[in-house]
Amino acid sequence: MAFDAEAIRAEFPILQRQVNGKPLVYLDSAASAQKPRAVIEAMVHAMEHSYANVHRGLHTLANETTDAYEGARKKIAAFIGAEPNEVVFTKGGTEAINLVAAGIGTYLQPGDEIVLSEMEHHANIVPWHFLRERKGVVLKWAPITEDGALDVEAFQRLLGPKTRVVALSHMSNVLGTINPAMELTRMAHEAGAVVLLDGCQAIVHKPVDVKALDVDFYVFSGHKLYGPTGIGALYGKAEKLAALPPYQGGGEMIGQVSMDEITYADPPHRFEAGTPAILEAIGFGAAVDWLSGLDRIAIAEHEHRLYARVRERLQGANWLRVLGEAEGKGAILSFTVDGAHAHDVAQILDRYGIAVRAGTHCAEPLMRRFGCTSSARASFALYNTEQEADAFVDALTKTQAFFS
Ligand code: ALA
Repeated sequence: MAFDAEAIRAEFPILQRQVNGKPLVYLDSAASAQKPRAVIEAMVHAMEHSYANVHRGLHTLANETTDAYEGARKKIAAFIGAEPNEVVFTKGGTEAINLVAAGIGTYLQPGDEIVLSEMEHHANIVPWHFLRERKGVVLKWAPITEDGALDVEAFQRLLGPKTRVVALSHMSNVLGTINPAMELTRMAHEAGAVVLLDGCQAIVHKPVDVKALDVDFYVFSGHKLYGPTGIGALYGKAEKLAALPPYQGGGEMIGQVSMDEITYADPPHRFEAGTPAILEAIGFGAAVDWLSGLDRIAIAEHEHRLYARVRERLQGANWLRVLGEAEGKGAILSFTVDGAHAHDVAQILDRYGIAVRAGTHCAEPLMRRFGCTSSARASFALYNTEQEADAFVDALTKTQAFFS
């Protein structure tokens, strides 16, 4: 049975609005997805009925909120096939990578190597650059083929006795490329490296089982997964988290504190200093609950159909350059229009009610790899429809006419 995007759309209040007098066509979900009522209501319900600080109280509201917060952790863990104590709540994917890099960085030596790829988001580049600057580690870059796939053989050649960390995107936010995570992880482990996957995009479009992938760390954010901003998750194998030193200090992450010494809580609480993003965690839990109730294979097929429809209709558009055509890629279309700056393209599309992202997409090395200073990007989500795909193509064709 065809996936019913119209029924899903009805669960997203914001999608009813107009932009510049036109129905909103939201094609920027890779930057941040819209929120279904289930998420909005879970957060409002918590604020209206059961809210207090967590882990500290002995009163009813504190206990209820603690149960809801820890319940959200259990939901996130189940969503990725992990144990609850292997899931740390963070501010987002970025903070999760910073946490791991800072921790691993405490024991890296000058000359140790970290393997990244040319398709990484800055969130999975800059924290490792910190270690290059501060610890003298060496960054190595797995190249990307012309169609936007990771060059797996070249990746393997980068691995060696000095490789300590392999940190890769599971799915590129620019190219839509989905990397062969299991194979790459196996290769990295054979070289003795710790593996971190940036799953911020991938987990939205495909079920993820961290145990099957055998990754050491997997990070993702709530807001791309139809949940709130300000919350994300770091999965770490229990023994890998236990080996990491604390990231931030404060309340709730300690065992005992005296004037002379300190002991730390076990993970995950060791990494959750201070009052956490309680409402956001509850909303995040509601988002994965909501998504788990849907047919995720059917969603992926629906998103692919929209992408294929757009590509088909733009076949022969000799003014269009598409970045990323790797086999099995996800429904992300990054493109440039001859003679037009991507920012101008995005602004003109906005006049037609169409929201796309434009810029470097926090992936400057990748932009350079493809000889671009920027691109526009349309990303398709479960709530987009064929009419919206057509509206995008029609508006893009008119936009191009401005520049020809
Ligand atoms: N990482 C987000 C994007 O790709 C912000 O747009």
